[in-house]
Amino acid sequence: MNVLVTGGAGYIGSHTCLELLESGYGVIVIDNLCNASPKSLDRVQELTGKSLKFYEGDVRDEALLTRIFQENEIGCVIHFAGLKAVGESVAKPWEYYDNNLNSTLVLTKVMKQFGMKNIIFSSSATVYTADNEMPLRETSRTGNCTNPYGWTKYMTEQILSGMATAEADWSIVLLRYFNPIGAHKSGRIGEDPRGIPNNLMPYITQVAVGRREELSVFGDDYDTPDGTGVRDYIHVVDLAKGHVAAVRYAAEHKGCEVFNLGTGVGYSVLDMVHTFIDANHVPVPYKIVDRRPGDIATCYADPAKSLEKLGWKAELGLTEMCRDSWNWQKANPMGYGE
Ligand code: NAD
Ligand code: UFG
Repeated sequence: MNVLVTGGAGYIGSHTCLELLESGYGVIVIDNLCNASPKSLDRVQELTGKSLKFYEGDVRDEALLTRIFQENEIGCVIHFAGLKAVGESVAKPWEYYDNNLNSTLVLTKVMKQFGMKNIIFSSSATVYTADNEMPLRETSRTGNCTNPYGWTKYMTEQILSGMATAEADWSIVLLRYFNPIGAHKSGRIGEDPRGIPNNLMPYITQVAVGRREELSVFGDDYDTPDGTGVRDYIHVVDLAKGHVAAVRYAAEHKGCEVFNLGTGVGYSVLDMVHTFIDANHVPVPYKIVDRRPGDIATCYADPAKSLEKLGWKAELGLTEMCRDSWNWQKANPMGYGE
């Protein structure tokens, strides 16, 4: 079966293309490269010894999508394409609502025209409200998002579940990711953020490789064991395997189902820094600074439903996540740019 992967040249997309190819699926990618390098796809093909088909273009381009569906027999879509920087979304709400909502609307319109109604969507733990008890279950409260990026994820979930209500032959899987980090163990593909990283792990690796002077730890006065923020970090390869499990699930189930993809374990910022230093024997200078506005103290998943229904659980631990993040950064100090 062929899987159409939107945003397949990106961080999570490239790792998922690799796992799909390794599992015997054909892979077709559409990506406009607004936040990715096509080298990621070259390397996925090198690593697997298999080829994939790449269309450079925008998911909002209906004519291009129509051509892709005409030229290929597609059995499932994984929809990663989207803009993802929380802070940027506050400054550029139009771009975020346009890109993230219209891509889904155009994509599903074309899917419907071709009678292909299996879709996996990249949602986020950000859809959960801040006042939930931990761990977060799929039934925990959602909404009250604090930025346009979060709203696009929330709204896309609503749009897709509305389609499943309207037409019983859709198979829709909403995957709520927690905090993906790490890289393929080869060190050939990984996360390559443009500009100053917003997220913790790429910041740590750029400090370790000498691109940044020191890490700022955003607050040490949270109500957590060491006062720093606690998150559910998940190895991107585990996350990618969760998508393969979701493709299998969508082939067998109709309706709209939501799953958490996390490990169920929370680690603090200082746990991350110390595990990274111990695993890789490199210094990571850091200083404690004020809290970052909008951050919550603690966020971690209950991944039980994913185990029960997708037969999936995360296998890789924090040491592997830190080792593989470093392995990628060390081998590619400037990401795909070098
Ligand atoms: P990424 O930026 O590396 O990948 C997204 C890809 O989509 C990029 O290759 C980009 O070029 C492409 N793209 C964006 N808009 C497009 C468009 N209109 N048409 C075609 N291509 C387009 O990000 P990622 O970390 O791999 O995230 C993938 C998905 O998972 C995103 O939807 C993101 O919001 C979601 N997600 C990510 C995280 C995270 O922490 N990385 C957490 C939760 C959810
Ligand atoms: N942190 C630092 N210093 C940094 C960066 C982050 O101390 O330079 C801390 C944060 O305060 C937080 C933790 O590290 O406690 C993790 O921060 P990230 O920015 O890596 O991740 P977030 O949990 O804040 O955000 C992630 C995704 C968002 C998504 C959100 C909720 O990046 O897209 O999870 O699911 F919306």
